[in-house]
Amino acid sequence: MDRSSGGRDRILRPVIRQFDLKDLPAIVEIDREVGGGYSPELFMTFHEYHPQTMLVAEAAGGVVGIVIGFKHTPLEGRIFWLAVKPAHQGRGIGRSLLSAILRIFSRLGAVSATLEVRIGNRRAQSLYASMGFVVDNVIPSYYSDGEAALIMRKIL
Ligand SMILES: CC(C)(COP(=O)(O)OP(=O)(O)OC[C@H]1O[C@@H](n2cnc3c(N)ncnc32)[C@H](O)[C@@H]1OP(=O)(O)O)[C@@H](O)C(=O)NCCC(=O)NCCS
Repeated sequence: MDRSSGGRDRILRPVIRQFDLKDLPAIVEIDREVGGGYSPELFMTFHEYHPQTMLVAEAAGGVVGIVIGFKHTPLEGRIFWLAVKPAHQGRGIGRSLLSAILRIFSRLGAVSATLEVRIGNRRAQSLYASMGFVVDNVIPSYYSDGEAALIMRKIL
C-alpha cells in the first residue's frame, strides 16, 4: 500500500467491540481477502470459549478488522489472529484492535502477551514492535510451507 499520502486523514477511528454472530460473514470475508485460511467453525469456537477477547473493528459502515486472542495461562494472553480488510489497511485499525485486546488481557489479569508471526511478515512485525513487542524466540519451519515463526512478547 502506498503510505506516502500520510497525514491525519489517513487514520480511521474505528469502533472496537466484541464479535457478534452477525459479524461471521464479514470476518470470513476478511480472512479470505488476507489469505488467513481459518474456518468459520474455528471462529465459532473462539466465540464460544473466548468471547471477551474476540473483537471486531467497525468503520466506514461495516466490519473492517478482527483480533482474536485468549488467556493461555493465568498470567499471559495470546494473540491468535489479527487481520484488517485490505482496503482499510494502513489507517490505524490494526493498532486500535491490538491496543484494545491488550487492555482486556490486562483487565483479565495477564502480565504479558505473546504472538507468533511469519518471519517474512515485516508489516505485522513493525506494528508489533512499535507497540512494544520484542522477539522472544525463532522457530524454524513453523508453518506448513516451511516458513519460520517469530514469537514476540510484550510485558503489559
Ligand atoms: C498486519 C495488519 C493487521 C496491520 O493492520 P493495519 O490496520 O494495516 O495497521 P495500522 O494501520 O494500524 O498500522 C500500524 C503499524 O503497522 C505498520 N504498517 C502499517 N501499514 C504498513 C505498510 N504499508 N508498510 C509498512 N508498515 C506498515 C506501521 O508500523 C504502522 O504504524 P504507523 O502507522 O504508526 O507507521 C494488516 O496489514 C493485515 O491484516 N495484514 C494481513 C494479515 C496479517 O498479516 N496479520 C498478522 C498475522 S501475525
